[in-house]
Amino acid sequence: MKIAIINGPNLNLLGVREPGIYGKQTFEAFLIDLRQKYPDIQIDYFQSNVEGELVSELQRVGFTYDGILLNAAAYTHTSVAIGDAVSAISTPVIEIHISNVAAREDYRLRSLIGSKCVGAITGLGLKGYELGLQYFL
Ligand code: DQA
Repeated sequence: MKIAIINGPNLNLLGVREPGIYGKQTFEAFLIDLRQKYPDIQIDYFQSNVEGELVSELQRVGFTYDGILLNAAAYTHTSVAIGDAVSAISTPVIEIHISNVAAREDYRLRSLIGSKCVGAITGLGLKGYELGLQYFL
């Protein structure tokens, strides 16, 4: 089984970035634990601050992988291109947010990706990625 985790802008700063909202753990440390917990699953990780690179990665994994966990970060609220990429591929995508976007600024309430995904997990911290992975098992 192959699962792709795709993270968008500023998520490379997890652990440092607004720890009161996003927590103190780096994504790299979280990923080590996750891979140890699920040794039989190939878990690929890609992060970019560049919109087009996220589109290209969705296209790369989107026809052969079993599931995609996508945290498009701020692009969730603005990117027609990433929403179109999710529609274009055949691998099911789960929208992930670390913070509870429903409890934050109004502009975070809109997702251009959510309607193309099988579902969304928001506000459960990094645990949301593991819960998303379990959906695909
Ligand atoms: C986020 C929520 C987005 O609104 C924000 O722009 C992010 C991170 C989250 O994981 O909570 O960068 O996707």
